[in-house]
Amino acid sequence: ATGLLVDTRGRPLRDLRISVTDRCNFRCNYCMPKEVFDKDYPYLPHSALLSFEEITRLASLFLAHGVRKIRLTGGEPLLRKNIEELIAQLAQLRTVDGKAPDLTLTTNGSLLARKARSLKEAGLNRVTVSLDGLDDAVFRRMNDVDFPVADVLAGIEAAHTAGLSHIKVNMVVKRGTNDHEILPMARHFRGTGTTLRFIEYMDVGATNGWRMDEVLPSAELIQRLRAELPLVPLEPSSPGETAERWGYADASGQHDPALGEVGVISSVTQAFCHDCNRARLSTEGKLYLCLFASQGYDLRSLLRGGASDADIAAAIAPIWQQRTDRYSELRSTLPADNTQGARRVEMSYIGG
Ligand code: GTP
Ligand code: 5AD
Ligand code: SF4
Ligand code: SF4
Repeated sequence: ATGLLVDTRGRPLRDLRISVTDRCNFRCNYCMPKEVFDKDYPYLPHSALLSFEEITRLASLFLAHGVRKIRLTGGEPLLRKNIEELIAQLAQLRTVDGKAPDLTLTTNGSLLARKARSLKEAGLNRVTVSLDGLDDAVFRRMNDVDFPVADVLAGIEAAHTAGLSHIKVNMVVKRGTNDHEILPMARHFRGTGTTLRFIEYMDVGATNGWRMDEVLPSAELIQRLRAELPLVPLEPSSPGETAERWGYADASGQHDPALGEVGVISSVTQAFCHDCNRARLSTEGKLYLCLFASQGYDLRSLLRGGASDADIAAAIAPIWQQRTDRYSELRSTLPADNTQGARRVEMSYIGG
């Protein structure tokens, strides 16, 4: 029951995104709006969370099915106690080709200055930091807990110093809220070795009050950037990639590797479902086949019900093989309000 799995649209399983907590110390309005995620919000109890041993066991079965990249997400993954121990366990695993998996993590950066070194020592390869602006007032408003931008910038510095390679910064752009931070962010990270990526604000979950007029289409964003900083398109670095890459150009119009690149993730205006190779494991061990799914497949009950590795691997295979999901491609054909049908899961639960 091991080897290459493909779904109904011929898409292989390559990327496993594991949410290790549904909690976060930020309240970004597009993800965990304060009014919903208040002190009465029913977060998962500790007993519901997969243990590190359970996560590692599942991860090894997914690797046997062809996964090459493992990303830890949340909520905020660095809030999970002793996350370094999980990283150390995952770093021991191997892909079907006998290689170490690409082990990475998405964080809001608030605890990174403190943790970068121990994460690297535990075996983390790289890190992606969410940062929605450089201006302190704008950033404090975006995270909605008055968290200062300087601390996140210090976290990114610490990640460099610790030797975490290929650091990426993800900025969710909301028109009218932080789009005036696009150019300052680009100028700040150009030539630093950190790759900045702009994400179109998405209608994920059921609580963020998404509206199309707050989406800044990536084509418009690239136009705005190009007017100030010369860019040339770059080839994708791997199949199924989320971001479209643009290189900073020198005076002769060629990509200058020393200046680096930027990316745009255009889930709304240019869906990338056609080669989506990502599976998501929720904090409580449900397998989701799409960021916009409303239902997952409970793997925890198999783990806790005494199933063997072979049983669990055999259960995972047909789930992927029967996968049809392509929400972003279908978005425009679906009813505009999200009240029809089942409620979509929240991003803080399923993981970015
Ligand atoms: P790299 O390997 O570093 O390129 O990571 P990645 O781009 O696969 O993952 P990352 O967590 O950096 O993704 C950035 C953002 O893209 C996420 O926070 C989401 O907003 C969005 N995103 C990632 N995967 C998907 C996906 O499968 N579907 C959609 N619609 N959006 C996604
Ligand atoms: N739209 C786009 N990206 C989102 N994220 C969370 N909510 C949204 C949304 N509504 C992504 C951001 C953040 C990561 C943790 O999740 O990229 O950096
Ligand atoms: Fe927390 Fe990230 Fe969601 Fe912001 S986007 S609330 S930092 S999980
Ligand atoms: Fe993959 Fe679903 Fe995102 Fe499409 S919308 S790229 S299928 S996770």
